[in-house]
Amino acid sequence: MIGNKTLAVPGPTNMPTRIAQSMNIPLEDHRAPDFPDFVKPLLNDLKKVFKTETGSVLVFPGSGTGGWEAAIRNTLSAGDSVLVSSFGQFSFLWAQMCRELSLDVNCIDQEWGKATPLEEYRRVLTEDRAHKVKAVLVCHNETATGVTSNVAAVRAILNDLNHPALLFVDGVSSIGSIDFKMDEWGVDVAVSGSQKGFMLPTGLAIVGVSEKVNYQIQNVSRRPGDTYLGCGYFDFANMISANESGYFPYTPAATLLRGLRTSVDMLLEEGLDNVFARHTRLANGVRAAVDAWGLKNCAQTPDIFSDTVTAIMVGEGYDANMVIQTAYKKYGVSLGAGLSKVAGKVFRIGHLGWLNETMVLQALGGAELAMRDVGIDFEAGSGLGAAVKLYTQSPQEMAMAAE
Ligand SMILES: Cc1ncc(COP(=O)(O)O)c(C=O)c1O
Repeated sequence: MIGNKTLAVPGPTNMPTRIAQSMNIPLEDHRAPDFPDFVKPLLNDLKKVFKTETGSVLVFPGSGTGGWEAAIRNTLSAGDSVLVSSFGQFSFLWAQMCRELSLDVNCIDQEWGKATPLEEYRRVLTEDRAHKVKAVLVCHNETATGVTSNVAAVRAILNDLNHPALLFVDGVSSIGSIDFKMDEWGVDVAVSGSQKGFMLPTGLAIVGVSEKVNYQIQNVSRRPGDTYLGCGYFDFANMISANESGYFPYTPAATLLRGLRTSVDMLLEEGLDNVFARHTRLANGVRAAVDAWGLKNCAQTPDIFSDTVTAIMVGEGYDANMVIQTAYKKYGVSLGAGLSKVAGKVFRIGHLGWLNETMVLQALGGAELAMRDVGIDFEAGSGLGAAVKLYTQSPQEMAMAAE
């Protein structure tokens, strides 16, 4: 294929040249005397992205899935009860991991396209007078369906009921892209990865750990059989203690850490609020295109539309996989696949990371070409036109139009 490929999946996202260049360095000694001069400020600045002052942010070689496992293994014992909801492939898989790690899983199955069911969470937690539920899990941004859940509301329920359960949040496709307030929302373990809002290659699990969890793990018995599920590689206590001196308990992914330094610099230089506003603006363009095509967003109501990814339903009689394949093979555009229950029904456009309006238009244009090729009935250029109209509005005009 002649020309550049277009990466429009919701992770890995586009890597800025500045980040790539910061990793184009000779491999280094992670036990060098000056390594802590690099590590300590990095871990400190990561806390700004997670919006925590009292917690710690830990970086493990791994990915988001490893972060899920770390949250569970460091804090829970076999048979502990957890409350979770499954409303897309990622929330489903986290619940599944809880079962595999022998937890007692109370999973509320939701229709895909809906968000964390707040009323159901309140009901279960209200009935749990004995406080058997040890952790409540929330997938902040369900990447499979493009749905954002209300983490603050889950914290409010726990507080209202004076329920001591830990709050775990999957922020893999939200942290660094849409607002995330670890301290304010009382999140105990926040899980992210390197390949989405952090604009890096896959390879890091980036995990926020609250002061409460830190205290809990420091004071747990470390005799065999006495500890939580057994943390091994993902042991928070070992990581926190090594990080205090600016080192790691094992060989860190130092090259990715150099990239992470640049990523955090870029996020903070742009300003987190500006990053979030940019994502909202880009998402609005995609949503305008979906409306103009006469198609539906898999997320059922505007209040839960994700600003980082949109899952677009192609409608009865069409196969979304054909759109994805055609876009890739004929036009070099990678659209996100529909996963599991929504396979063949949706294609996804990721609108997060190092992205501007023109790059989104490229993805929308590729989607239009492929949709016409597979016979989906819509007016050519209608989605692109709607997005162009929206992107040429000033942010003020856009805000007025949204009211
Ligand atoms: C919301 C969410 N959680 C978890 C994961 C799993 O992360 P990873 O693929 O980095 O292991 C993903 C991956 O896309 C995700 O989008």
